[in-house]
Amino acid sequence: MFAAITVAMIRVKTRKFGALRALGCVLAIFCALTWPAHAQQAQVAKSPALAAAPFQYVGAGGCSAPACHGSVRPMTQTRVWQNEYSTWVTQDKHSRAYSVLSGPVAVRMAKILGLPAPNTAPKCLACHAIDAPASERARTFDISDGVSCESCHGPASAWLGPHTTVGWTHQQSLKLGMYDTRDIVLRTERCLECHLGTKNKYVDHEMLAAGHPDLYFELDSFQATMPRHWKQPLEQDAWRDVRDWGTGQAVQFSAEMKYLQGLTQRDAWPEYTQLDCFACHHSLVKTENSWRQQRGYAGHRPGSPPWNPSRYIVFREIARTVDPAVAAKLDDSLAKVETEMSRVAPDRAKVAASASETAGALDDVAQRIATMPYDQAVTLTLMRDISADAGGISMAGERSAEQAAMALNSLFLAYSRNVKMANEADVRSAIAGLYQQLQNPSAYDGFQFAAQMQKVNALLR
Ligand code: HEC
Ligand code: HEC
Ligand code: HEC
Ligand code: HEC
Repeated sequence: MFAAITVAMIRVKTRKFGALRALGCVLAIFCALTWPAHAQQAQVAKSPALAAAPFQYVGAGGCSAPACHGSVRPMTQTRVWQNEYSTWVTQDKHSRAYSVLSGPVAVRMAKILGLPAPNTAPKCLACHAIDAPASERARTFDISDGVSCESCHGPASAWLGPHTTVGWTHQQSLKLGMYDTRDIVLRTERCLECHLGTKNKYVDHEMLAAGHPDLYFELDSFQATMPRHWKQPLEQDAWRDVRDWGTGQAVQFSAEMKYLQGLTQRDAWPEYTQLDCFACHHSLVKTENSWRQQRGYAGHRPGSPPWNPSRYIVFREIARTVDPAVAAKLDDSLAKVETEMSRVAPDRAKVAASASETAGALDDVAQRIATMPYDQAVTLTLMRDISADAGGISMAGERSAEQAAMALNSLFLAYSRNVKMANEADVRSAIAGLYQQLQNPSAYDGFQFAAQMQKVNALLR
């Protein structure tokens, strides 16, 4: 019976929207049949004798019944939309994360890297599916679900049944293995496990050279693109997106410092993904047209690829707003990372030590950013400060420029939603002008980008 249901579920995923309706009844039966079993598992999990038994992954099918999270239309009367599964299957790229491993790009990557079929390679499954040990896979688990509900929400065996009962709380689910995605810091950390990497799963330059897309992340824009399948719990907080953006920046930078520490322990060193990609990958131009020669090479030997500061360059502006003393401390310890990483042969131990010092200085900064009050004034100040640093950001390279464009766009969208701006259309098109310059990263020009940032800044005065 389970095999048949699994086949039905795979079909749901590969067919289009209408198929969901037709198969709804099958899944509803599935739901009814398996829930008592899950409820029993919850009892088992509570019993001290078996407390060590791991929580298990049950697969996305366990959430897909129309009365659960598989409704075709969003419900407005209920606390959650109930169409989360439908959104994930039809719009969210995560539901295709496993199937892309059978595509031509992945197959060629695996060939170049000397791996077995990518949809069986742990190196790829680590981020493209739930590659849990056998003891954590329930019978209904299906690896072809890709990045599914439990990738973010945690293994569901113990809370799946009980979390539908009246009076059950979020805290109770957390005790039974649910991951707390409501906490913005924890949420961002979860995204970054795959969108930045960790010591154990990473996309390094070798993988990029074999064809993997480069990884970058910005919480607010990525949540919107996913798209969000949740009602916003802070419906009243008009400045919620600014909070998400700022917190995302802090967590991202802290994760980056820990990631860098881990990389110092690998064989391949220096790891090129930590350096400025377009220092090596830009097109050559006549010397009179070279913006790099015009800029000079302050802080490193001409011709050595510098460290890529893009995960810090925008965050620094928020850090200054929250606590200038902490920001100054960060600037200091980070200067050490930058100097060492921009040498031809960076010293691993020195890099690891200053990255760890920087991570230490960050301490509770993300929590403070997540809980501080946001309003019109803070948002405008951030937009002004970022665009005022036109030179500093633009000269640091394409990746930094990209972060600044995303930041200004996120902040502008939040701002214009709440405040009537007389020159809204002008600001919008000036920000679009920033994105336009990033179309061809190898042709990026720091001076041109700085000029466009100054235009944005002038419109915000
Ligand atoms: C550290 C996590 C991580 C690892 C490990 C990883 N990937 Fe990915 N992969 C991602 C993320 C995140 C994306 C989406 C990037 C984006 O669009 O921002 C992605 C995207 C891709 C894409 C493009 C998908 C599309 O829709 O165009 C392919 C192909 C791919 N990965 C193949 C592989 C293969 C093959 C391996 C193993 C050799 C692998 N990945 C290992 C995280 C990872
Ligand atoms: C890539 C990560 C990710 C995946 C995959 C994912 N979710 Fe979510 N989900 C989130 C985040 C982040 C939130 C917002 C924070 C929160 O409310 O927990 C959320 C919120 C929700 C909520 C609202 C919770 C509440 O209390 O308001 C439900 C219900 C939900 N998800 C169900 C699902 C289901 C069902 C699936 C699979 C079909 C799924 N999610 C897949 C990240 C994910
Ligand atoms: C278990 C690993 C994993 C986690 C956790 C994860 N992602 Fe992803 N994400 C991926 C992979 C792999 C892809 C590429 C899928 C594809 O293109 O087929 C992806 C793709 C995306 C995309 C599409 C990017 C594009 O180029 O269109 C967005 C947006 C995204 N993720 C946002 C998020 C957010 C927000 C979170 C946290 C709430 C998150 N992801 C958590 C692995 C993950
Ligand atoms: C220190 C110099 C250096 C840095 C920094 C660097 N690369 Fe590379 N990259 C190379 C070299 C060398 C090759 C191999 C070229 C060859 O074999 O023809 C390469 C190959 C590649 C390729 C495959 C070649 C192609 O034409 O498709 C991609 C994609 C790539 N790099 C992306 C990146 C990205 C993205 C970054 C930043 C995250 C980056 N590289 C940082 C030197 C660098």
